[in-house]
Amino acid sequence: MTSDLILGIESSCDETAAAVVADGRVILSSVIASQADLHSAYGGVVPEIASRMHVEAILPVIDQALEEAGKTLTDLSAIAVTYGPGLVGALLVGLSVAKGLAWATGKPLIGVHHIEGHIAANYLADPDLQPPFLCLVVSGAHSHLVLVEDYGRNTVLARTRDDAAGEAFDKIARAIGLGYPGGPLIDRTAEGGRTDAFALPRSRFADSLDFSFSGLKTAALNQFNRFHQQAEKAGSEVWDVISLQDFAATYQQAIVDVLVDHTFQALDQTRLKRLTLAGGVAANSCLRRCMTDRAADAGVLLSYPPLWLCTDNAAMIASAGYYAYKAGRRDELSLNATASLELTDDRYADSDARDLSI
Ligand code: KG4
Ligand code: ZN
Repeated sequence: MTSDLILGIESSCDETAAAVVADGRVILSSVIASQADLHSAYGGVVPEIASRMHVEAILPVIDQALEEAGKTLTDLSAIAVTYGPGLVGALLVGLSVAKGLAWATGKPLIGVHHIEGHIAANYLADPDLQPPFLCLVVSGAHSHLVLVEDYGRNTVLARTRDDAAGEAFDKIARAIGLGYPGGPLIDRTAEGGRTDAFALPRSRFADSLDFSFSGLKTAALNQFNRFHQQAEKAGSEVWDVISLQDFAATYQQAIVDVLVDHTFQALDQTRLKRLTLAGGVAANSCLRRCMTDRAADAGVLLSYPPLWLCTDNAAMIASAGYYAYKAGRRDELSLNATASLELTDDRYADSDARDLSI
């Protein structure tokens, strides 16, 4: 049986990536050119620099992905590309190249929602995974609890009302001088630290499972400033008053507690027993550990992608693109990049999608 090969292209933020995936599940190649080192000097992603770097990297990255897969453009069934949400200038680079390739080869073009890609990373990690399942999507820009009813059919059960979980990691890491990107740095620094070194709030809403991290972030900043003042009075340094390790571990635990609690409440409400994680923050070791423990207690089957499939990559875009392709979805060459794009629940049919805007 011949397989459907999808070329995936991703350029929504600071990773230029291309991958070839067979039948939505088997990665033949995956190439990622990260710009993180370049942006770290500025403490965050600079959109103009990101766009310029994507332009330089995109063609060599695609060439390498095809070469490592041992395939040519003519072997492909379709070309899948992230068209939103993300930085519009960055998205346009991947999308323009994808359109050019689709036009030149006559292969179908399939626009993929970035979050749908993150969710699909789970299909690559677990060959037996089938919808329905619950997915906690936590990245630098998003914190969502998504009910995946079928391939490409999603209902957003909860979202963040302010900062995303990754933002909460990145902003505090920058404020305390750890650097960028903050998530992995806090994760590493927190190892073996006390998780209750000081009090932090865990916000919740009475009537919804939505997340809010801004109160937690402000409380941590205020606490950091108090430690600073104590150190100044004593003529010492802030990390003599509280260890950096304990500060990071206590802050990380507060974020993870909120994510775990809301996720298991959503599982209770939906009566689902199948859970997955997605997005850059799903690489967090404390989150993985706490989710694994809670899942074991609750009799929930949990799986999550390996670290490199949690952060941005193109294999996940190719996988999501495959299921869109099989559902008959084709996009016109007029497809545009959309900085804030809805994750609709029925994007392959012409039905009126519910309001599930991100
Ligand atoms: O999914 P992703 O690569 O890009 C977006 O779509 O946003 O996620 C990047 C985010 C950043 O905020 C980064 O700090 C966070 O994921 N991240 C982590 C870890 N690794 C990456 N957060 C916590 N712990 C980690 N180990
Ligand atoms: Zn992402």
